[in-house]
Amino acid sequence: MATRHFLSLLDLSSTELKQLLKRASELKKMQHAGEIYEPLKNKVLAMIFEKSSTRTRVSFEAGMVQLGGHAMFLSPRDTQLGRGEPIEDTARVLSSMVDIIMVRTFEHEKITTLAKHSSVPVINGLTDWVHPCQLLADMQAWTEHRGAVQGKTATYVGDGNNMCHSYINAARQLDFKLHIACPEGYDPDPELVKAAGDRVKIFREPKEACTNVDMVVTDVWASMGQEEEQKERENAFANFQVNDEVMALANKDALFMHCLPAHRGEEVSASVIDGKQSVVWDEAENRLHAQKALLEFLLT
Ligand code: CP
Ligand code: NVA
Repeated sequence: MATRHFLSLLDLSSTELKQLLKRASELKKMQHAGEIYEPLKNKVLAMIFEKSSTRTRVSFEAGMVQLGGHAMFLSPRDTQLGRGEPIEDTARVLSSMVDIIMVRTFEHEKITTLAKHSSVPVINGLTDWVHPCQLLADMQAWTEHRGAVQGKTATYVGDGNNMCHSYINAARQLDFKLHIACPEGYDPDPELVKAAGDRVKIFREPKEACTNVDMVVTDVWASMGQEEEQKERENAFANFQVNDEVMALANKDALFMHCLPAHRGEEVSASVIDGKQSVVWDEAENRLHAQKALLEFLLT
């Protein structure tokens, strides 16, 4: 059987994705009950981080240990990858020694190349294109708080970036409606939008996009690698803050999510992220449970 990878949400069928989310909630209950469950004894995960991370690193490392295995942190600073060893060679060598590989990098092509040359599953821990692991956690949180997401409406406010792209894929896979509020020039990939059909609609006014919706989500204005565009982006996104005025237009029981790290006073006001509708801490915790379900799915 061909090796399964998780480079985007589209690598799983819609049914597999729903099962995985259900399993994530089960694993969460087991974890909270203190139940020991170690199906990945002696399995090793190699984690390549070419960008910073708190949640992704800690959740994968803790998750792997909880499942009975081991996780190894690799940075380009102290591996040969950083000195120009080809990604293809790295893939061949790593996959002869470990059972699964997670990568966080810049160009999405890097991870597709690595997967192509790896004999073990490769997981996308964020690229400039998508952030599928985050969406597992978000969809788990949304479902846990409000039930099935099918037919509901979410609004993504902000940059048409990796998070936005993964929300588009999630809308497609889980069949919910997605409003995207972004300034001109910061749109998500038009092909991806087109593939989601009439589920996705682009808006230029956050207030209009958030009216009567079930969930509002945002992300940083300048992603990792775009630090020098910070000032220019602050101007472009000045009108795109998720604050009380915006949230007041959403449904009364609407949730607020953010993948974190957040910048209070920029993409979200402190009153919203620290307010009653925010589920960002559950969302962050779910990175652990959802990725444990993913590791179990790919390795057992
Ligand atoms: N949300 C997320 O991926 O966080 P980290 O960058 O801390 O891993
Ligand atoms: N869009 C952000 C997400 C961080 C988790 C970035 O790529 O930096």
